Amino acid sequence: MSYHIVTLPGDGIGPEIMSGTVKVLKHLSNRFQFSYTLKSYDIGGIAIDKHNDPLPERTLNACHSADAILLGAVGGPQWTDASIRPEQGLLQLRKELNLFANIRPTTVTHETSHLSPIKEERVKNTNFVIVRELTSGLYFGEPKYFNDDKALDSLTYTKEEITRIAHVAFQLAQTRNRKLTSVDKENVLASSKLWRSVINEVGQSYPDVELEHLLVDACAMHLVTHPSRFDVILTENMFGDILSDEASVIPGSLGLSPSASFGSNGPKLYEPIHGSAPDIANQNIANPFGMLLSLAMCLRESFNETAAASHLETSIFKLIKEKKTTRDLGGKYTTDEVINHLLEYI
Ligand code: NAD
Ligand code: IPM
Ligand code: MN
Repeated sequence: MSYHIVTLPGDGIGPEIMSGTVKVLKHLSNRFQFSYTLKSYDIGGIAIDKHNDPLPERTLNACHSADAILLGAVGGPQWTDASIRPEQGLLQLRKELNLFANIRPTTVTHETSHLSPIKEERVKNTNFVIVRELTSGLYFGEPKYFNDDKALDSLTYTKEEITRIAHVAFQLAQTRNRKLTSVDKENVLASSKLWRSVINEVGQSYPDVELEHLLVDACAMHLVTHPSRFDVILTENMFGDILSDEASVIPGSLGLSPSASFGSNGPKLYEPIHGSAPDIANQNIANPFGMLLSLAMCLRESFNETAAASHLETSIFKLIKEKKTTRDLGGKYTTDEVINHLLEYI
């Protein structure tokens, strides 16, 4: 059995973190005896430059027939004024592959608790997962337009969209500590009123999972004052985007957070939650751990290569403990040097 992987390095630091990740994959496949094929395609700004399209048909077709997809990041200041933006390529890919569920874990281990901007005693034992709805809400709602006088975005959710993501989150909670926090803005938004009532309805099928509701502003506060209270956080697209960047720095850096996106069937997509970081691109200082932990999620969830996934994760946390990290985590090493240290462990 050979796994077919499509890589989409994208823009900014995307290619820098992807090239090291591909090396790590090769070493893991030697050590853990699995085989794979890998092919790289353009997405985002580079695809606009080369093909005038942030998601060329070739890229989309390759993704459809892949066993799994690894994505770096898209976007950058050179495409801000473009009529088509790089980010549209990523959004369209999520929509085309129906990747409605986005899983963003946050774990503070004893190796990382000292790196948190929050007091160590508060972040100890933090281990939660944000389940973000990824293909609806403000990002995709119609109508949407802007002109010089007025702009409009539409925040739409259907019962079916809320129901399917709710099942993902409740089922995930059943494999963890059986606590689910649903986050909305039910005191103001119509879409949130529907959200809350559908979550309550679906929750009746999961009596073993403790369900609570939090308003998004209060949730943002609890995340920094008492992050260890959470197990599974379920929320809509926009709130999930914002809360997951906030959550990502609890263990020390945005550069550490991985994610997995999936639909009811078809290939899953794995990407770090950070962006293309134009401020540090081409300097060989980007933290590759978010991308590498995304590879670990891929190995475990798409290929059931649990030993390889665990070894990769353990090796990364060992590097953090030994301060063999990039500077966002307090280390003094370049991206390539961190990768070389990791290859030694593998
Ligand atoms: P960003 O996540 O790229 O960067 C925010 C800050 O975090 C920057 O200071 C950056 O240097 C730092 N950072 C991010 N990743 C890092 C890493 N791996 N190692 C070290 N430091 C890291 O967010 P932004 O600056 O708001 O956005 C830049 C571009 O990225 C925008 O075009 C945005 O649309 C895009 N973006 C893309 C994705 C994606 O492709 N999935 C995600 C978020 C943002
Ligand atoms: C993310 C990113 C994307 C999002 C952007 C690039 C469209 O911020 O994956 O978190 O908002 O979903
Ligand atoms: Mn984001």
